[in-house]
Amino acid sequence: TLIPAVWIVAAYLLGSVAFGIIVSKLFGLPDPRTVGSGNPGATNVLRSGKKLAAALTLLGDVLKGWLPVWLALQSDMLMWVVASVGLAVFFGHLYPIFYKFKGGKGVATALGVMLAISPLLGLAAVVTWIVVFAISRYSSLGAIVAAALAPVYAWFLLSAYNDYVIAVTIMAVMLIWRHRSNIQKLLAGTESGFGKKK
Ligand code: G3P
Repeated sequence: TLIPAVWIVAAYLLGSVAFGIIVSKLFGLPDPRTVGSGNPGATNVLRSGKKLAAALTLLGDVLKGWLPVWLALQSDMLMWVVASVGLAVFFGHLYPIFYKFKGGKGVATALGVMLAISPLLGLAAVVTWIVVFAISRYSSLGAIVAAALAPVYAWFLLSAYNDYVIAVTIMAVMLIWRHRSNIQKLLAGTESGFGKKK
């Protein structure tokens, strides 16, 4: 078995792989950092109109959050190591070493981490996102509300697993912080949503 530091560094490096940038390049789409919101995430790739590219971005960013945490659990790592691996892959997505530390907002990657820690927790967050998105048509608002509730869900579902509750809470705070420009636009009524086209 590897020492915790190796797990954590490997998870950070994996988190630094931005699927929104890679998938866009493969599809011949503009770099998502140069269009729309400038965010290299599935939501902004979707604004290109290529749903498959957005779906692959979402899948890649979720799986990269899920994989290292799942592997650490399979390897019977201590709880604090598993929680740290989850935080490392999440922070890799936010501050990627391969892209001058300018990364995404962490929605998909946090989901992957939560699904690995507790599928029920991940499901609760996804359902929250879907309900808020269905009503508001804003991806960002779905993520902000899901992030605000995720620590509450974690506390109910995982209260015996303190390290996971702490990790989920740190991810939620960071995720909302990364959405501060979205929050300003939501309040100003200028956020770019996915309202039904006629
Ligand atoms: O995935 C991030 C999402 O919540 C908001 O993305 O591009 O609308 O800022 P964006």
